[in-house]
This record gives sequence, C-alpha cells and structure tokens, in this order.
Amino acid sequence: MGQALEGVRILDFTHVQSGPTCTQLLAWFGADVIKVEKPGVGDITRTQLRDIPNVDSLYFTMLNHNKRSITLDTKNKAGKAVLEELVRSCDVLVENFAPGVLDRMGFSWARIQELNPRMIVASIKGFGPGPYQDCKVYENVAQCAGGAASTTGFDDGPPLVTGAQIGDSGTGLHLALGIVTALYQRTHSGRGQRVDAAMQDGVLNLCRVKLRDQQRIERGPLKEYPQYPNGKFGDAVPRAGNASGGGQPGWILKCKGWENDPNAYIYFITQAPVWGAICKVIGKEEWITDPDYATPEARLPRLRSIFDTIEKWTETKDKFEAMDILNKFDIPCGPILSMREIANEPSLRVTGTVVEVDHPERGPYLSVGNPIKLSDSPTVVERSPLLGEHTQEVLRDVLGFDQSRIDEIAGSGALGAPVAMAAE
Ligand SMILES: CC(C)(COP(=O)(O)OP(=O)(O)OC[C@H]1O[C@@H](n2cnc3c(N)ncnc32)[C@H](O)[C@@H]1OP(=O)(O)O)[C@@H](O)C(=O)NCCC(=O)NCCS
Repeated sequence: MGQALEGVRILDFTHVQSGPTCTQLLAWFGADVIKVEKPGVGDITRTQLRDIPNVDSLYFTMLNHNKRSITLDTKNKAGKAVLEELVRSCDVLVENFAPGVLDRMGFSWARIQELNPRMIVASIKGFGPGPYQDCKVYENVAQCAGGAASTTGFDDGPPLVTGAQIGDSGTGLHLALGIVTALYQRTHSGRGQRVDAAMQDGVLNLCRVKLRDQQRIERGPLKEYPQYPNGKFGDAVPRAGNASGGGQPGWILKCKGWENDPNAYIYFITQAPVWGAICKVIGKEEWITDPDYATPEARLPRLRSIFDTIEKWTETKDKFEAMDILNKFDIPCGPILSMREIANEPSLRVTGTVVEVDHPERGPYLSVGNPIKLSDSPTVVERSPLLGEHTQEVLRDVLGFDQSRIDEIAGSGALGAPVAMAAE
C-alpha cells in the first residue's frame, strides 16, 4: 500500500520542537524528509536533556522519526552550492530559524523562487509581522503571548503555562496543514508559495473560546466560570480553574485514594441531558424536580456546591470504577491519567498512538506515534536518524553526485569532519 505523501520531498531545516513536529508528521504520511544539520553539532535537542551519555536524547528521537539526516555547513561555499541543489530537488523547505536567518544564509524567498519556482517555503516564527516580529521565541513565551497563560490557572494564583506544547507542537500541526494545502494548490497553480505560521497565532487559535468569552464578559458575568456569582470579574477573561471551556459545566473531582495519589481524580461534566441520571447515581433524586436544581440556568449559581456534593460520591470510588458507572448512563467524564498510566495503556499500543521504537545506540524507547490515522496510508514509525547518517546517500541518490564530486565537497569541510564521514 502506498502512502499519502509519497513522492513529496521535504528539505527539513527545522530544529528544536515546533518545526520537527511538523516535518515528522509529513514523514509519517510518506514524504521523504531530509533533515539538514550543522556538521558536528546537529539539532541542538540531540544533546539536550540527555538521559544516556553520548546518545541522542529522547527529546530528539521522539521528534525526528522517519527522517533522513545530512550534515551540511551552509556557511561554507561548497555547502551552499549543495543546498542550492537541494532547493532545486525538493518540493517544500520547512524552517523555524530565528527571524532573518534564512536571508542571512543567502536563501531569501526571491532567491528560492529563482532556484525553484514550485518550491513551497514554510516557516514558523514566534510572532507574525508587528512589534515582536524579530524576537526569538520558545514554547512558554508563545503560551503567554497567545492568551493561554492569562486564562489558565486559578483565580487567586499567577498565570500558568500548560504541559501541552501548544506553542511548539501546536504550531507544527498548523504548519503541516498549511503545507499540504499549498501542495494541493500547486497541483493546479503550478507555483509554490510561502506558508507562515506564528506561534502566537497558533496558540491564540487554540484559545479561540477565550476570545469568545472576552466579548461575552463585556455584556455581563460569565455565569459558567467559578467566579460567578460571588467573585468579581475584571475587564479581561479571568482564569477559570478547571471549569469546562464549553457550555457544559465541569470540574475535577477527587476520587478514592486522592490523599496518596496525585492523579486520583476524575473530570466530571454535568451535561444537561443526563442531569437526571447524575442525580440518581449520586443519590440526590430530589434535585431532579427541585426548581433550584432542575434547569441548567438554576444550577449555574450553585455549581460549586453541586460539584462538592458530587465529589462526596466520587470520593467513594476509584477513578476507573467511577468511569464504569458513569459511562453506563452516558455521563461525560474522564479519569486524570498519569503519564505512567498512559505509557502502559494497552489500547494506545494497539492503535499505534504509543509505540516502542528500537534505536541502535539507546535501545528500545517509547514514543508517541502518529495521532492521525489514515485508512489508506498507514504509519510505520521508524527510528530517528543518527547525525549525518544519510549524507552520502542523499548526495548520491537524490542529487546524483558521483563519488569524486562527493569527495571534493567533503574535502572542503562542508559535510563535517572526516571522522563523521568515516563513521557512515
Ligand atoms: C528556537 C530559537 C529561539 C533558537 O535560536 P538559536 O538557537 O539562537 O538558533 P537560530 O535559529 O537563531 O540560528 C541558528 C544559527 O545557526 C546557523 N545554522 C543553522 N544551520 C546551519 C548549518 N547547517 N550550517 C551552518 N550554519 C547553520 C544559522 O545560519 C544561524 O546563524 P546566524 O544567526 O549567524 O545567521 C529560534 O530559532 C527561533 O526563534 N525560531 C523560531 C520560533 C521557534 O520555532 N521557536 C520554537 C522552537 S521549539
């Protein structure tokens, strides 16, 4: 069976997390992703947060599956010439350098179009055009500037960042969609184009409901927020604790064992159509007809005490027992799963969402596989490449260089130290 993006060649100039997430997805859909790395160094994440000495970190291996790696000094004349050839031979260039780096390297949009008018150039930057356009940005900066931090956390605490990498991996996802869209448009326009995704914009897109609430707050209190009815609302969307982002009130409730287990909790949603079932399960049948509790509007000012009462029930069950009981009545709820529980969850292994991958230097490790499943384009997760593992192969097979030309380029130092070459 073929793969969706078979025949698409990506010049992967990405590093750290945001860009590599994007190109990893494209590789999982079948694109040939050639990662260009600085000789001797490579993507900085190869050495960051290492758990085994001198072995590519999990940070790197988990973001660079199914890619080929070549080392190329793009500041060396011969290296630049190789890069020009790669631009001519690839369909998409993806990069997430700091603003201005690609231009300084000599690969402006105008130059790339000269070399290959069909090329799509996809970039992630921290900010779009505006006051911060020249800033370098990492995950948490984007979370703060995109509205996530000001709306996350509890009302009486500071802004909080989330563990979900919405700035990096989130923007990588946005960029991947932009790239396949541009590839599709190219099938009838014949031309490449630029695809830009700013991390601030990506985070804000994921915080869409908070901009919704910013406009609602100007017309009255946000009645589903925990601040209602006793707290004060200011002029900006407040932090909503664990309140549900949608129209269905929800909260995180303790389950049996919470005193010793930091994850013995369940997310409980009081969806209106199952209110009667909730009342029966927790032994408060009188709430079904009591006018103070019978309608969603009547419940809004009492949500705090309602959840306190429901919690008295959830505290008597462990989170999985509570799930089993509540799901029988279609009551939307979810256990708070630790990373340990997720790593060991058999159903995630079956679907390939959690995969075990073997690596020649580190041995087997767990990774998150492709979360997007295509019925005609299955993903097989392959280990990340060693630094420069495919340099010779790409110069030979993709660019068609003969050995004497490769030796000449290597002699210039453009491919890295001779030691690295000998190791291939
Ligand atoms: C992530 C970020 C802050 C890292 O900054 P950094 O480590 O200082 O790296 P930069 O992107 O500034 O630049 C890399 C330098 O290496 C050079 N370089 C990269 N690959 C090279 C290669 N193969 N050969 C030679 N030089 C290379 C670049 O030319 C650049 O040099 P210059 O500044 O002299 O022009 C920055 O890249 C950034 O803001 N990116 C956009 C936003 C983003 O994606 N952030 C999230 C990352 S998860």
